[in-house]
Amino acid sequence: MDNTDDISMKTKTGSIGVFDSGYGGLTVLKEIINELPDYDYTYLGDNARAPYGNRSFETVYHYTLQCVQWFFLQGCPLVILACNTASAKALRTIQQNDLPKIAPDKRVLGVIRPTTEIIGRFTRTRSIGILATSGTVQSESYVIEIEKFFPDIKVTQEACPLWVPLVENNEYESHGADFFVKKYIHNLLHKADDIDTILLACTHYPLLLKKITEYTPVDIKILTQGEIVAHSLKDYLYRHPEMESSISKKGTKEFYTTDSVEDFDSHAAIFFGMPVVSTHIDLG
Ligand code: DGL
Repeated sequence: MDNTDDISMKTKTGSIGVFDSGYGGLTVLKEIINELPDYDYTYLGDNARAPYGNRSFETVYHYTLQCVQWFFLQGCPLVILACNTASAKALRTIQQNDLPKIAPDKRVLGVIRPTTEIIGRFTRTRSIGILATSGTVQSESYVIEIEKFFPDIKVTQEACPLWVPLVENNEYESHGADFFVKKYIHNLLHKADDIDTILLACTHYPLLLKKITEYTPVDIKILTQGEIVAHSLKDYLYRHPEMESSISKKGTKEFYTTDSVEDFDSHAAIFFGMPVVSTHIDLG
């Protein structure tokens, strides 16, 4: 390789990849763009295979790795798994086993670590409730990670398997949604009556925030992850200038889905808060 090649390799830049099983990651992307508007972003929703929440470890890992590899082919130096289920079931294996082999210079980050490292700031009673998909709850990722940063905090979890389908089917504001919103919150608070902070540990749940707030006692704080992840990414890029300089900065946003673009565009606009035009991709 001559010097010219060397220089062009070093100056090659790409967008930040943001991944979710479907639409939920758009609630995170929205906050990331608010915080860091100058970078380029590529969003992929694996809608054809969503939801991931009830799938096995092997399946979520296999699907997530396939999507991460797609981002790398697009030239993304950094991929954010804006999906708790994928972060819980696939991230560690991808970071530890796959990245060193397939793309040692690239990075994949999740949403669990940024949340768990600061969650202790919000609770006075040292009792936190986690509402998440069955997959995230079963992985025990939140329990394990919070224990590392805040061993004094008690973590109580409740799986909400019907919330993602309610959101994905546009029923999050319907009367039918009330029953299941109330039920899971009630179950959680019944397990631990000293909870003063509830984390919505699924990126779909911010769409249910209005109803969740309605059925949660006013003295309990409800946390969503978008802003937390956005601040953490800003900090990460500040601490990793070599990664920061490898990200392109034209302020562009591209959206891809593994399912129908018509469905994606109409749903995505609700999650993202502005019109979305997507492109279909086939992952085989
Ligand atoms: N939005 C994803 C999460 O944060 C879950 C959606 C799904 O079950 O696919 O966990």
